[in-house]
Amino acid sequence: MRVDILSLFPEMFSAYLNASILHRALESGFLQIKVHNIRDFATGKHHITDEPPYGGGGGMILKPEPIFAAVESLRVQTPDMGQVGAQTPVILLTPQGRLLNQAVARELAGHDRLILLCGRYEGVDERVRQHLVTDEISIGDYVLTGGELAALVVVDVVARLIPGVLGAEGAADGDSHAQGLLEGPHYTRPETFRGWTVPEVLRSGHAAKILRWRREQALRRTWERRPELFLSADLDEEDRQFLRVLAEEQVRRT
Ligand code: ADE
Repeated sequence: MRVDILSLFPEMFSAYLNASILHRALESGFLQIKVHNIRDFATGKHHITDEPPYGGGGGMILKPEPIFAAVESLRVQTPDMGQVGAQTPVILLTPQGRLLNQAVARELAGHDRLILLCGRYEGVDERVRQHLVTDEISIGDYVLTGGELAALVVVDVVARLIPGVLGAEGAADGDSHAQGLLEGPHYTRPETFRGWTVPEVLRSGHAAKILRWRREQALRRTWERRPELFLSADLDEEDRQFLRVLAEEQVRRT
């Protein structure tokens, strides 16, 4: 996958992208990321990228011309870039966008190219949203100082869904949210730490029992922390039976 990120602060990205799994994905070519400075597309002596809003009010608004010019530059075919087609999403990171979740991440991972536009200050000129942007994404109901962290979050969640990035095929399948549930607990060595011992079933070597235990732990954790996820989770009869046990447990406790 190829991702172009447009930002006024391109220096914000390198530390995160140059470590761990994303670094490996970039090195091995599963992922290509190019960060473009919006200021490079601003004209005039001062390369102005933002101005006060028409009608008054506080803050600064990102001007449309440099942003249009930056996206349009990606439509020009160059050997290392390839061409941006009409179907390439141009995604504005904004607290007004649709909320990112694992289903949205899977949808984005289905594209071979994404353009991420990082807003800053009070926002972007409305004509950018209306005539350039094709999608708007928020990473949560809070306001960041700009879209850069949100763009990194999008890159991160999408990258780990690209086949090969996590190594083993299907490595992301057991993640929290991948099946509509939270994941259960994990343990590693030592077997006993400060008197706390790893559950016996995990040391039993009994694959089927371990699978069932993990499923029940995922159901229990989801029940305790995010019960609303059950509204859309994919459950079988055995899961439902276990949820009845959890419900009875809860009734007994209250
Ligand atoms: N820019 C500022 N806040 C944001 C958020 N919550 N999500 C995406 N982009 C943002």
